[in-house]
Amino acid sequence: GAPISNPLIKLHEEVAEFYHRVLLTTEVGVRGLSYANSRQLDKEIIEHFKIGYAPKQDNILYTYLHDKGYEDATLAESGLFVENKDGRLFDRFRDRLMFPLDDENGHIIGFSGRRISEDATQAKYMNSPETKIFTKSKVLFHFAEAKKAARAEQHLILYEGYMDVIAAYKAGIKSGIASMGTSLTDQQIYLLRRITSNIIINYDGDDPGIHAEERAVDMFQRVGGFNLGVVVLPEKLDPDEYVKKYGVAKYQEEVAAALSPTDFFLRRLQQKYNLHNDREKLQYLDEAIKKIATLTNPMEQDIFIKKVSEEQGVSLDSLKASLMREIRRLK
Ligand code: CTP
Ligand code: MN
Ligand code: MN
Ligand code: MN
Ligand code: MN
Repeated sequence: GAPISNPLIKLHEEVAEFYHRVLLTTEVGVRGLSYANSRQLDKEIIEHFKIGYAPKQDNILYTYLHDKGYEDATLAESGLFVENKDGRLFDRFRDRLMFPLDDENGHIIGFSGRRISEDATQAKYMNSPETKIFTKSKVLFHFAEAKKAARAEQHLILYEGYMDVIAAYKAGIKSGIASMGTSLTDQQIYLLRRITSNIIINYDGDDPGIHAEERAVDMFQRVGGFNLGVVVLPEKLDPDEYVKKYGVAKYQEEVAAALSPTDFFLRRLQQKYNLHNDREKLQYLDEAIKKIATLTNPMEQDIFIKKVSEEQGVSLDSLKASLMREIRRLK
């Protein structure tokens, strides 16, 4: 690509190379490599994602960059160091498996480091702070690569985490990106909109993940123009755990069986009510009709009204009458 003119990006590229080399070729990196192996990250994956290791030892990165001639001012601006009260700089990331974060052109602009130690008082992931080149809310992990794959795969798949994108990649799905947590932003949605309207949301199967999927569906629908699928994994598993437990083929089946937003909504609604109780069943039907009434495509309304009719053993006529009443009410 074009030469990199931004010195902070250049620095980040250099740091990524450094952490990557530490992981793959050094004695201090063995600790990182054995953690990587325990997460089933092989050499090819480590290389594709340019994963690295930030050593435990004091100030290895600072010393390396200082000796290369970098000024403290530049290093302070990078976010890769913390300043003590005397103004001295110390490596921010220590004893962490390092995931470079790149912008849409593939230029490295930040890092996220996975805790390796068992010490749960340390955050599981530590990210670069906001800098001149890094704004977390505008970044999607693996976006530059995934957008190339989106053409062939015809969609992008949205995950929570790095390890999920990597698990998908191992399953042959190269169009995975991560919102890096459950706080999806509109800016991230705008990035996706430029690439494809077909988005599959596959957050973790735990409660926070499923709630975040509901929120994400709302956000995508508010922006509008998307064709959405939602994957809900069983047993509270995240995609990485699912692939580990059930294998790649099963995971691909889960993706192929992604629910439409309406199906997803109805499934969630069914879990809210005891459908063996008539009073609760009526509440469920009422809420389901309200949702179906908001659909703008009459064929879609037709599909779901039939589904509800079959699933709940209620006549199509009575559901249609309720739907008409609700549609009139909305006008
Ligand atoms: N995350 C973060 N900071 C944290 C925890 C999570 O930035 N302290 C982001 C990371 O991008 C992480 C994602 O949220 O990948 C999803 O979080 P979680 O499901 O808790 O972690 P996993 O991705 O499953 O991490 P791992 O498999 O390594 O345990
Ligand atoms: Mn490079
Ligand atoms: Mn999670
Ligand atoms: Mn997870
Ligand atoms: Mn995980």
